[in-house]
Amino acid sequence: MAGSRILAMGHYQPSRILTNDDLAQMVDTNDAWIRDRVGIVTRRIADAESVADMATAAAAKALAASGLAASDIDLVTVATCSSVDRCPNVATRVANRLGITAPAAYDLNTACSGFSYATATADQAIRAGAARNALVIGAEKLSDVTDWTDRSTCILFGDAAGAAVLGEVADGDQPGVGPVVWGSAPDKGDVLKIEGWRPYIQQEGQAVFRWATTALAPLALAACAKAGVKPEELAAFVPHQANTRIIDAIVRKLNIPNAVVAKDIVESGNTSAASTPLALSKLIERREVPSGAPVLLFGFGGGLTYAGQVVRCP
Ligand code: UT7
Repeated sequence: MAGSRILAMGHYQPSRILTNDDLAQMVDTNDAWIRDRVGIVTRRIADAESVADMATAAAAKALAASGLAASDIDLVTVATCSSVDRCPNVATRVANRLGITAPAAYDLNTACSGFSYATATADQAIRAGAARNALVIGAEKLSDVTDWTDRSTCILFGDAAGAAVLGEVADGDQPGVGPVVWGSAPDKGDVLKIEGWRPYIQQEGQAVFRWATTALAPLALAACAKAGVKPEELAAFVPHQANTRIIDAIVRKLNIPNAVVAKDIVESGNTSAASTPLALSKLIERREVPSGAPVLLFGFGGGLTYAGQVVRCP
């Protein structure tokens, strides 16, 4: 196969909004510090909904928008680092609820870079002829693994899911998912952990910040080069939504004057593997990126891991 392209996207967020003022009632923080240092104003928190519930809701929207039937999907993959249940995995639960009867179904955990890893593996399966159409989902219930007494982390995270339907591209047609640039910095793994039982997020924020603002821009540019897309041709840049200061620092190094830069973090917080599909799905919903235009996705975080690729907007 020549490759794959994104046919449609969808997203889901729980209805409960947690404001900075709400957090100031719980820990020693304030709205001004959070806005200045991170850029977050609100985040959504799931109550009864599980990772699988949110993943299913986002995937159902993407599937409906794609025009495909459940029976057309032969691969389902869910990127998540916060699913509490180990087995059945989230992917099979989503498939079952959507009536996808016998797909290849796997979860993938590279934390905040998960959606780009899952998109790459689904694209590679399609290229290899192992699948025709794939549901690729990023879904997180980080509120389950948040220490709500730790002000350095609990102000950062939110719950959400974002999903894409990938379909095969006929020979001779332009692929819509570019080659991935992916990797990790395993020696730095301890600076962001969700470890032990009961697990919760622990982060050396400054160490992650330094890595993100120094190591990642050249890798994002490498993803453009691999796709044969000049940075100035990008219509949108959708980086992991961890901190507006990190996003701005990376953007300054990219030369992307024509790109809409996603800043969904302001209203959604950091939703780890859900953050880039959530942000891209919203840009598409608001018609901020033309169909067919090149978009750079770039995820990074726990592990430390990173992955990015240029995709064509559905
Ligand atoms: O998604 C995975 C990838 N993760 C990231 O990319 C996160 C990267 N790191 C960051 O975004 C930032 O490091 C944070 C937002 C996590 C923290 O911001 P910072 O500017 O690095 O703050 P800091 O940790 O250096 O703390 C500065 C001060 C400290 O007080 P002192 O020691 O200077 O008196 C903290 O105790 O701010 C204090 N502080 C807070 N103050 C009010 C820490 N958290 C808070 C808070 N409210 N919530």
